[in-house]
Amino acid sequence: MSENKVRWKSPSNIALVKYWGKKGFQLPANASISFTLSECFTDTTLSWVETGSFDVEVELHGEKSEAFKPKVEKFFNNITERYPILSRFTFSLQTSNTFPHSSGIASSASGMSALALCVCSFLDQNELLKQEFYREASYLARIGSGSACRSVYGLLAEWGEHPDYTNSTDEAAIPHVDVHPVFNTYQDTILLVHEGQKSVSSTAGHALLNNHPFEDQRYQVAGSNMTRIKKILATGDLDEFCELIEYEALMLHSLMMTSNPSYMLVEPNTLAIIQKIREYRKQNNCHIAFTLDAGANVHMLYPERDIDKAKALIDTELKQYCSNGRYICDKVGQGPEKLKC
Ligand code: PMV
Repeated sequence: MSENKVRWKSPSNIALVKYWGKKGFQLPANASISFTLSECFTDTTLSWVETGSFDVEVELHGEKSEAFKPKVEKFFNNITERYPILSRFTFSLQTSNTFPHSSGIASSASGMSALALCVCSFLDQNELLKQEFYREASYLARIGSGSACRSVYGLLAEWGEHPDYTNSTDEAAIPHVDVHPVFNTYQDTILLVHEGQKSVSSTAGHALLNNHPFEDQRYQVAGSNMTRIKKILATGDLDEFCELIEYEALMLHSLMMTSNPSYMLVEPNTLAIIQKIREYRKQNNCHIAFTLDAGANVHMLYPERDIDKAKALIDTELKQYCSNGRYICDKVGQGPEKLKC
């Protein structure tokens, strides 16, 4: 083995049509599609020594992390059946996120995709990869955290079997390619409404969709929204784009509000921002729209040509609703990158 260390940076992503609900083991109940981001990423170095048995040490931001370690151990446990070689090595993981710790931005998509890419490099050196590199990285990332499988491709990635998406599968994401140029430089400003842990995890949220009164309707709507967005992404119809992503965000949160037990991750400031964005769009002939993750923060999505308008809107109207006035300027990105150790 030539090297015993690899380093990858991998970005977060924001879903346009949301994955919400699981089937089987880490398989999505519906297809989803996301923008890969650029500035919010995880930088992970994985090193290893052959010791004859498995162990892993985890450092987050330069300090031993007992909180993150069980997630990493679980990930390795879940993939060892596919790659038994892993059980003979002691691994050491050093990882850091560019976005502020406890900003309320999920680190699982970037964190798990970075880890999966590192593991794939390890396997590749041993000529053990079962599939093409990125496809296998996506497959493994999905086992770590569903939405993470979309982060291994730049620009846009689709995950989940859907008749309109050729070669789509539940097992891994695929890059989405038929894209109008307006989306190559799309902006995402993340308005931080709630910093810190959310009250109900995504894992619990997915589970609450089983036997939800609107479960079947949700899967139908998600499927038809996937059909709609494919056309929108190809034609660059931004009126339709704004309408569809906002509907998806609100549907995701309405499913949470109508779960049993019901819960709410949006906060009054989330709603205030949403209202301001809609008013502004109507009055200013632009395409500034919102989407939401499973949390209170608002992702404001807009084309590059609306940057000045977005800045004005944030400064005059939206900043006041952000926690400590904070927001993160991100945009669509090119996907993960292998770095020098
Ligand atoms: O990947 P998970 O299990 O954290 O679920 C993510 C679900 C959403 O972020 C709400 C939607 C999505 O498709 O990313």
